[in-house]
Amino acid sequence: MSFADELAAGLRAQPRRVSPKWFYDAAGSRLFERICELPEYYPTRTELALLDRHASEIAALIGAGAEIVEFGAGASRKVRILLGALEQPRRFVPVDISGEHLVDAASALRADHPGLAVQPLVADFTAELELPAAAGRRVGFFPGSSIGNFEPGEAERLLCRFAGWLGGGGLLIGVDLVKEPAQLHAAYNDAQGVTAAFNLNLLARANRELGAGFDLAGWAHSAFYNPPLQRIEMHLVSRRRQAVTIAGERFEFAEGDSVHTENSYKYTVEGFQALARRAGFEAARCWTDAGQRFSLHWLEPKEAR
Ligand code: AVJ
Repeated sequence: MSFADELAAGLRAQPRRVSPKWFYDAAGSRLFERICELPEYYPTRTELALLDRHASEIAALIGAGAEIVEFGAGASRKVRILLGALEQPRRFVPVDISGEHLVDAASALRADHPGLAVQPLVADFTAELELPAAAGRRVGFFPGSSIGNFEPGEAERLLCRFAGWLGGGGLLIGVDLVKEPAQLHAAYNDAQGVTAAFNLNLLARANRELGAGFDLAGWAHSAFYNPPLQRIEMHLVSRRRQAVTIAGERFEFAEGDSVHTENSYKYTVEGFQALARRAGFEAARCWTDAGQRFSLHWLEPKEAR
């Protein structure tokens, strides 16, 4: 479905919602990169440190001559650590919904890894995915706790589909951990307001691409931890009565009406391993930082062990 169709359908629904995958146009991707640098946003730097610290062990588990498929490839900092540690990686297939980022990152990687074939694929892996025929043992890479965007049932189905696409290869996946709510709250309510701008960019994008006419000053960023569901929720809340038009359809909002824009589920190590097992993986190895803030899991398909 197009952005226009999904946005209209989400605003017609009750409660109103929009998939977080629409955050990432060029402006949204730039804002997300800024989020990753924020002092409050621990996931990126914690995961980078885990990759760095355990790179040679990870490389040994993956083996020589592998093909890496990255699901949702934004900036290439994480995969660079992985590729740098691997023995003669054969091919890198970054898959992303936004093509702009992908092509630039691919040429930079080619320049740095002369022996490596880089074959970017512009695709929405939450829909269907046509991967090229595998070149060597295929291994999946899904960093950043992007899995947190999916409800647990959806996450399980997505991992099942990854297992199918990987055809017997393993999956290296980053998963944010359940922790003190205050730490989580700070990570999604940064002092500089970058996360607010990232959330509001969804409306700015609707204005740019669809002429929706959202008044950004009429909307507030809201992010909070929902303890029973173990997730951060992000919403855009209407500050007053207002209306917009998308593809000829009028949408009205009362003061306080909210549009749910993102879930970011947090897991315990055991909780995520149980989910991975339900999806047909064996939780073969897990690394966490000393503060137990973030986890990196090496999953192997059950049959292969
Ligand atoms: C890319 C989905 C992992 O949930 O932390 C960051 C996105 N949203 N700040 C996350 C995000 C607000 C991020 N993920």
